[in-house]
Amino acid sequence: MVGLVILMRYSRVNSPNSKPNSKPNSSNDDDLQSSLYISSTAVFTMELLKFFICTLVLFHSTNYSFPHLFQIFKNSLIDSPYEVLKLSVPSLLYALQNNLLYCALTNLDAASYQVIYQLKILTTALFSVTMLHKKLTVRKWFSLILLSFGVILAQTSTSQDSHVASIPTDLAKKNRLVGTLCVVMAACTSGFSGVYFEKILKGSPKVSLWIRNIQMGLPSVLLSLLSSLLKDYSPILRSGFFHGYTTTVWSVILVQAGGGLLVALVVKYADNVLKVFAASFSIVVNAVVSYVFFGFVPDGRFCVGTVAVCCSIVIYSGGGQKKRTILPLNRLEQGGKEEKENLIEDKDS
Ligand code: C5P
Repeated sequence: MVGLVILMRYSRVNSPNSKPNSKPNSSNDDDLQSSLYISSTAVFTMELLKFFICTLVLFHSTNYSFPHLFQIFKNSLIDSPYEVLKLSVPSLLYALQNNLLYCALTNLDAASYQVIYQLKILTTALFSVTMLHKKLTVRKWFSLILLSFGVILAQTSTSQDSHVASIPTDLAKKNRLVGTLCVVMAACTSGFSGVYFEKILKGSPKVSLWIRNIQMGLPSVLLSLLSSLLKDYSPILRSGFFHGYTTTVWSVILVQAGGGLLVALVVKYADNVLKVFAASFSIVVNAVVSYVFFGFVPDGRFCVGTVAVCCSIVIYSGGGQKKRTILPLNRLEQGGKEEKENLIEDKDS
C-alpha cells in the first residue's frame, strides 16, 4: 500500500525526460507533461489485466474447458443484465476513484496524500453502519479514530518521499487544492464502493467471487476505456496509447491489479472494516521488514503511531472486555432478551 503510493507518485513525477536538477519553469512542466504516460490509459490497462486474471481463474475452475467458460460468461454477463447493472455502480465509482488517485498524486506529495486518504477508515465505518447495519459501539468508534490518528502519525514520520519531493515540479505546488479534493472524493468512493460490493457479495453467497469480479470487471473495462477516449483522445492519437509506459508504470499497473484482487478476497473472507485495519497494520509490518533488511530507523513519531495502531486493533477486537459465554439455545429461547442482544453484538465483533 505504502509502496504502491510511492511507486505511483514516482511514476507521475519521474518521466523519462524529466531532469531532476533543473529549475522549475513552465517549459519544464510542458516537457514533463508531454513525456508523462497518460494516466487514464493506465487505469484501463489495469482493469483489463484484472479482468484477464479473473477469466483465467474461472478457466482453471472449468478444467480448461472453453465451452464451459463461454457458458459461465453467457450466464453471468449476457443472461444477468440486472446483476451487471448492479455491479456497474461500484465499477463506475472505482473507475472514478482510480483516476482521482492518479490526479491526486500528480498534484500532491505522497505524505499528504496518505494522510488525507486515511479518511477512508472513517467513511468505510460510516457506510458499514448505514448500509450493512453493522453495530459499532463507542469503543469501536474510538478504536477507529485512534487507528486514523496512529496511521497519520506513522505515515508522516518517515521521509519515504524524499527523492520524489526533491524533484522540482511547479505542477505539484499549483494544484494542491485539486489534489486534496481528489483524495477526499476518493476516500468517499472507497468507503461506499467497498461496502456496496460487500453487501452484494454476502447477500448472495452462492455466486462465486470470481463471477462477481467479472460482472464488475466488464463495466470497469468499458467505462475506463470510454473515459480514457473522452478525456485523452487527442494525446492518445498524438503519442499512442502506451506512450511513456516505463518499467515503473508497468509495475504500478501490476501492483494495483494484484492489490485490487486482494481487496476483493479480503472483503469476501472478512469485511471492509477489517480490511482498513489490515491495510494500516501493513505499515507496521513494512517498517519491521525495512528495519531488518534495509536499516530503516523509526523516529519517535513513528513509534507513537505504531503503538496507537496496535492499541486500536486490540481495542477494536474487544481487548479488556469481559468475556461472554455462548448460551445454550434453550436458555435463549426461555427469554433472556438482554443476553440475546449481547450475543448479536458479539456476532458483529
Ligand atoms: O483504496 P481501496 O481499498 O478502496 O481500493 C480498492 C481497489 O480495489 C480499487 O482499485 C478497486 O478497483 C479494487 N477492487 C477490485 N475488485 C473488487 C473490489 C475492489 O479490483 N472486487
